[in-house]
Amino acid sequence: MKHNIIYRPIPLDEEIKFSKKKFIVSKTDIKGYITFVNKNFCDISGYSEEELIGAPHNILRHPDMPRAIFFLVWSSLLKGEPVSGVVKNLAKSGKYYWVIADFDVKKDKDGNIKSLTAFRRAAPQQVIDTMEELYETMLNIEKRQGMKGSLSYLQEYLEEHHMTYDEFLDHLVTPKGMLPKLISAFKSMFG
Ligand SMILES: Cc1cc2nc3c(=O)[nH]c(=O)nc-3n(C[C@H](O)[C@H](O)[C@H](O)COP(=O)(O)O)c2cc1C
Repeated sequence: MKHNIIYRPIPLDEEIKFSKKKFIVSKTDIKGYITFVNKNFCDISGYSEEELIGAPHNILRHPDMPRAIFFLVWSSLLKGEPVSGVVKNLAKSGKYYWVIADFDVKKDKDGNIKSLTAFRRAAPQQVIDTMEELYETMLNIEKRQGMKGSLSYLQEYLEEHHMTYDEFLDHLVTPKGMLPKLISAFKSMFG
């Protein structure tokens, strides 16, 4: 597979809002190089399919995101376990957009990881508000003490809330009304 060279945009303090019915999908290989994107991915990120296929998924990495979150995501996926996260992404224009991302692992019949997938939807404002504050604190700790410090902070934060990371996210992001049905129907299309 060809690996594209990426020029990183300069972040702008401008948000891209998109419909909660628009799902953004991508697949990667085991190293995180993009192998598939849907049209919503291109429309919202501003990159073309040609630019994205073969690029590392950190093409969207926003400097406001703590490294600890991606560490948790990758640790679960490489163990073969699905995981969710709230992510601030950097579009080609430099603007940002917040998503709730459900990551999953596809395995071959021998149980080896074949590909990694992410389904994303728009994050509601109260989710953004909570995570923005948490991530800002984690990022400040990371700058001074590295990722170990921010992971410890996250652990303390969850203990204070008497929840695991998964419970905390479930509690925060579980969709209401018709949306869960729409999401599971959509996910099955990409199965
Ligand atoms: C299926 C999949 C989807 C991903 N989607 C995103 C994403 O939307 N935004 C993002 O910043 N990182 C995403 N990542 C994580 C990146 O691979 C990377 O770990 C992250 O951007 C941090 O960059 P770094 O590892 O270079 O520090 C995804 C990873 C996988 C496996």
